[in-house]
Amino acid sequence: MKTVNSEIKPLNQLRLLVGSVLTALFCNGCAINGPQSTVTPNGPVAQAEFKVYLVTLGVCAAIFLVVGSVMAYCLYRYRDRGDSPDQLPPQGHGNPLLEIGVVGISVLLVSLMVYPTVKGIFYIGSLPPGSKPLLIKVTGYQWWWRFEYPDQGVVTANEIAIPAGRPVKFELKTHDVIHSFWIPRLGGKVDMIPNQNNWLWLEANPEIARGYTDPVTGKTSSGVLYGQCAEFCGESHAFMRFRVLVLKALDFEQWIQHQKSDAPPPPPGSVASTGQKVFNTVGCTTCHTVRGNPIASGTLGPDLTHVGSRLTLAAGTLPNNRANMRKWLLNPHAVKPGNMMWRLGYVKKNVRTGQAGMDVISKLNALTVDEFDALVTYVENLK
Ligand code: CUA
Repeated sequence: MKTVNSEIKPLNQLRLLVGSVLTALFCNGCAINGPQSTVTPNGPVAQAEFKVYLVTLGVCAAIFLVVGSVMAYCLYRYRDRGDSPDQLPPQGHGNPLLEIGVVGISVLLVSLMVYPTVKGIFYIGSLPPGSKPLLIKVTGYQWWWRFEYPDQGVVTANEIAIPAGRPVKFELKTHDVIHSFWIPRLGGKVDMIPNQNNWLWLEANPEIARGYTDPVTGKTSSGVLYGQCAEFCGESHAFMRFRVLVLKALDFEQWIQHQKSDAPPPPPGSVASTGQKVFNTVGCTTCHTVRGNPIASGTLGPDLTHVGSRLTLAAGTLPNNRANMRKWLLNPHAVKPGNMMWRLGYVKKNVRTGQAGMDVISKLNALTVDEFDALVTYVENLK
């Protein structure tokens, strides 16, 4: 009786295998141009790291080819032909010339990788001489990012702007557990460790700036890069992301001015004004700052002064629009499991112990539809 398998001819089996492997490669590893690609460097630090990667890849590929070919040849050439079953092949005790040669080649190959690596470490480890870097202090929280520009007097969250072509020094701290700061297309990553001050510098190439038109392809750059926490830091680690706006110098100055400004108070009698009352009474202000709203000065959660103007909500998790703002505020746990806003602001009981005790400010579950809509309107208008 024929089985299904036996009907596939060897040639077709080979085609199937090659096809599957190529498909897998295509689906997995070939997103060279993805937003978090490390093989499309967009700045000098990423470029230096990419160089080391290429040299290492080249050396390893060469070793694989040479060793693999010799092994394949030996397996074939000295295979068991069944002609002398009891006889051992001739036994040798090494070849000094070959052994010295192999050691020598290994040392040479390692030096090939060491040179760019050490050079890269020194390059990345110190700010470019004579440069005037922009300073940004970054603090990691479960699961969002606080960004402070101390020289400009700006505090924001989950979205930063940097000027193209100018080094940026990031000072890295954590509020709770270990996180890792990473902007794949600019380079990194560096861990944010409790009680330790780490730092790194990065720079974005001028052609990444928003509005830059490539003279060859005619494509205009959006100026948006992705950032990601790169160290497992709890259940919503994968949702701890941020956006980097790469701007031309003038646009960057405008961005800073806007970030420095307070949120204008909503017009009296408007839906947003009702929303502000809801915001101020259900507990949002305990954790969130909205400059211009004197009651809102909490610092446990992200600064919301200009949250409506950001590209994303919930630290890079959702595109910023009204539908997603509703989704996020209605049930933050469904968007970002375990987050602090859910634990403190919504759940009547402690989710871990099942006991009451965290219900002091848990009024968000009890809002009417109109109150909730007004709250959404207020927050989305913080532009
Ligand atoms: Cu923060 Cu992973």
